[in-house]
Amino acid sequence: MAKLTKDTIGVGFVGAGDISILHAAAVRKCPGARLVGLWNRGRERAAQRAAEFGCKAYDSPEALVNDPAVDAVFVLTNLETHLEYTRLALEAGKHVLVEKPVGVTVGEIEEMRTLADARGLVCVPGHNYIYEAGMVRTRELVEAGDLGRIVSAYVMYNIHHPEEVAKRYPGVVRQILTHHSYILLYLVGAPAELFAMKATLHYQEYPEEDIAMVQMRLANGALAHFCASFAADDHAADPWTVMVKVIGTAGSTRYSYRDHVEIKPGLVHSQTYTAYQGSITNEVRFFLTDCLRHGAAPLSTLADAATAQRMIEAAEESIRTGRAVKL
Ligand SMILES: NC(=O)c1ccc[n+]([C@@H]2O[C@H](COP(=O)([O-])OP(=O)(O)OC[C@H]3O[C@@H](n4cnc5c(N)ncnc54)[C@H](O)[C@@H]3O)[C@@H](O)[C@H]2O)c1
Repeated sequence: MAKLTKDTIGVGFVGAGDISILHAAAVRKCPGARLVGLWNRGRERAAQRAAEFGCKAYDSPEALVNDPAVDAVFVLTNLETHLEYTRLALEAGKHVLVEKPVGVTVGEIEEMRTLADARGLVCVPGHNYIYEAGMVRTRELVEAGDLGRIVSAYVMYNIHHPEEVAKRYPGVVRQILTHHSYILLYLVGAPAELFAMKATLHYQEYPEEDIAMVQMRLANGALAHFCASFAADDHAADPWTVMVKVIGTAGSTRYSYRDHVEIKPGLVHSQTYTAYQGSITNEVRFFLTDCLRHGAAPLSTLADAATAQRMIEAAEESIRTGRAVKL
């Protein structure tokens, strides 16, 4: 890929929902980057967010991707339209950051990868959690063998989401276990076998699950566990709000959302977990600066997104059949 050498990398957002607020703050904090403009399906929201972000509002996604001032497009719409807008941007010759879950199927993610590779463009999944220093350090320790033989890994998520918010997303299997899956892949590698369960415990009407758990045997022999819950916050001491642990025979690590908490509501969270914005700020800087300016590979790729999607589909099969599924 040709490295971008312009003084300022221009960014365009397709979609101006909640997550665009975090991405706009991230672009603002990235040296040598500028949010040029956005397109949103609803015009009123587009105008409001463009005014807030100090950028232009385009009349169509085509106008956005064809603007020569835009070098990179962030696809921030709902899951079902990620492929459509990623394809549009790549065909216009633009680099892409596409939010997670990247695609509805493994095939959609593979199509993005083929399109990007054919054009020599960078298309990165919005796998924000792993762009945190604590995650990178854990991976370095695992890779160097400093934790000894890995025996277990845990990714726990317990953040209450009101039903009105949850309705905008798929159930927690797709919406949240996607994060867990790419985190596990990044830190300790892929599972060989998994068993999953789900339940709906706090929604009154929305039929999707608000809690899911997965047990795994990893390819390296270790065992792992995921929990993803929109049903309740964890209020007890040292809470598992977002908690990632890797335990080995020679050492262990922990990453927690609770290391930095601001007592004000987050976008849809009861408090502000500083790491949420922080991980997106780091991810955006890595994409625009390390990948586009310096040619670095993203920490998590579309190939990883496809493997994460295979894990999600295996979890869905396990839930459907009540059996463990081999990957
Ligand atoms: N990385 C993270 O931690 C994180 C957190 C939240 C959301 N997300 C992801 O970001 C994306 C957007 O989520 P959000 O929280 O901003 O949701 P939101 O409901 O606030 O916004 C959804 C956006 O999708 C657009 N949209 C919906 N249907 C559309 C259609 N048919 N055609 C065109 N646009 C359409 C809406 O106009 C809006 O811009 C989702 O993929 C979600 O999974 C990621």
